[in-house]
Amino acid sequence: MHFPIKHFVSYYRPYLKQLSFVLMYAFMSTALALIFPLLVRHVTGDVLSGDLTDAQDQVLQVGLLMIGLAVLQQIFSFLLDYKGHMLGARMERDLRNDLFEHVQRLSFSYFDKVKTGELMSRIGNDLYSISEVYHHGIEDLILFGLRFIGAVTVLLVINARLTLVIVAFLPFMAVFTYFCNKQMNKTFMDNKKKMAEIHTQVEDSLSGVREVQSFNNEALEVNKFRRQNEHFLNSRKETYKVETALYNGVEGFIRFITIAVVLYGATLIIGETLNLADLLAFMLYIDFLVAPIRRMLVFSAMMQDAFTGFQRFSELMHTQSDIKSPNKHVELKALEGSISFKQVGFTYPHSDQSVFKELTLDIRPGEYVALVGASGAGKSTISKLIPRFYDVTQGSVTLDEHDVRHLSLPFVREQIGIVQQDVYLFSGSIKDNIRYGKPEATEEEVIEAARKANAHNFILALPSGYDSEVGQRGVRLSGGQKQRISIARVFLKNPPILILDEATSSLDNESEYIVKESMETLAKGRTTLVIAHRLSTIKNAQRIIVLENGRIVEEGTHESLIENAGPYYSLYNQQFKL
Ligand SMILES: Nc1ncnc2c1ncn2[C@@H]1O[C@H](COP(=O)(O)OP(=O)(O)OP(=O)(O)O)[C@@H](O)[C@H]1O
Ligand SMILES: [Mg+2]
Repeated sequence: MHFPIKHFVSYYRPYLKQLSFVLMYAFMSTALALIFPLLVRHVTGDVLSGDLTDAQDQVLQVGLLMIGLAVLQQIFSFLLDYKGHMLGARMERDLRNDLFEHVQRLSFSYFDKVKTGELMSRIGNDLYSISEVYHHGIEDLILFGLRFIGAVTVLLVINARLTLVIVAFLPFMAVFTYFCNKQMNKTFMDNKKKMAEIHTQVEDSLSGVREVQSFNNEALEVNKFRRQNEHFLNSRKETYKVETALYNGVEGFIRFITIAVVLYGATLIIGETLNLADLLAFMLYIDFLVAPIRRMLVFSAMMQDAFTGFQRFSELMHTQSDIKSPNKHVELKALEGSISFKQVGFTYPHSDQSVFKELTLDIRPGEYVALVGASGAGKSTISKLIPRFYDVTQGSVTLDEHDVRHLSLPFVREQIGIVQQDVYLFSGSIKDNIRYGKPEATEEEVIEAARKANAHNFILALPSGYDSEVGQRGVRLSGGQKQRISIARVFLKNPPILILDEATSSLDNESEYIVKESMETLAKGRTTLVIAHRLSTIKNAQRIIVLENGRIVEEGTHESLIENAGPYYSLYNQQFKL
């Protein structure tokens, strides 16, 4: 991938003022530093070589000047370091914010494909070096560029021939560094991939730690982890090979330059075209030439690290969600609540097996519909197509006769309340989790919603009541408790369309009955689609739809379906014979 330089530079935009200050500090501290060797040369060459009668006074004057300059230089250098690093850190923060925001909006199909650990690695690790590079990149260019040009100029004035000896080495160093850097970019890219795999492994093993222990599979997980960690080590090995080759190569060049200057300088002194003070100044300025090269060396590793991080960042930022709000959408205030599937065909992305072919289904506003059928029949999939978690591959899903793809996405999601099959609670308090349905809800509203979901009593029985922590993913609650919290959340959201996927499956008989009642109360005046395995919960539904392999095979009320003695009747019998 080509380095996205424009994208990289665009992050400077909000900080142009800070940047110009930082550059000014860099300029000042360099300019001041460049004067020093000249002063040394002045003392050794002019003051100490002639008449020494008032030399002491002159030395004192130069000394004071040097102290003054040193203090000033230190001040600028402090400002440069502090402000510069903060600038870089702010930009790194911006990148991370942008990336997180972008990832939040990617579609379900993206998350079906990409692992959480990989994303954690990209958002966390990949951007570590970027702040250093944002800060040092441009500033070092100025700092060391200036030093370099300044030093070469001064040296050319002192002795052109000796200077050319040094300059002759530079093209070779440049070529050498370029190739090493290219190689380093590759290895850093690989490092990051391997690190992401480690993160993925950790995330997977630790999220599943309860499974791991119940199957006694700790050793298996440890082995998987060791393998990934070993891959990372090997990848690092490659990086260090290139890095040390580069570092030692350049140090070698530097040594040769010094030897060349001493030898050639000595020859010039013997030939009386150079004096000792000049050679001394030369030796001091060599450092100005070499320091940028050394610095670039240390820096190039970091730069490559940051660049590869940015490349991965940019790549992810350019990944578009396949579910997007239309540019021009139909403007509606609220939905009445009719839902239609018109000749819907659907295949999950990254899958080649279609779930539906020409599925047609009409639900009237305010209707209470139940969906039943064997596992894998496509019930949950129906519930995911309505709020556009996925887009149909054929036909259309409409709400109030508007194709969902023509409505604004936030509007669609706002109009639908969904309790998904696998309930997810966020780490935090019970109150926070219920309030997730309506962040601005008052305490009373939260309690009211919990009451309706039959969660109030068990919440009060917890040590800290509504402030009890639920643990990550709600591990400190039972399955049924989690489900009731998630129902309360939807009660609070209060949407015109309600989808409950297996919302009552893990409740005990008594709370199932109460939740069923409150569900039915809630369903009044809204379109409700209930997906249930326990047929007892949906007896009262106005219409029961039986799904088999993605096709509707039967529909009607409980009584009429029982009378029909078809697929529903056998499902029903199976359950009640158990
Ligand atoms: N994210 C996905 N990617 C690919 N295929 C999927 C995905 N989710 C479900 N499927 C497949 O789609 C089909 C229908 O699944 P769905 O979850 O709708 O079944 P279901 O009727 O809800 O079953 P259950 O009663 O067990 O919940 C299944 O064959 C399943 O393997
Ligand atoms: Mg399901």
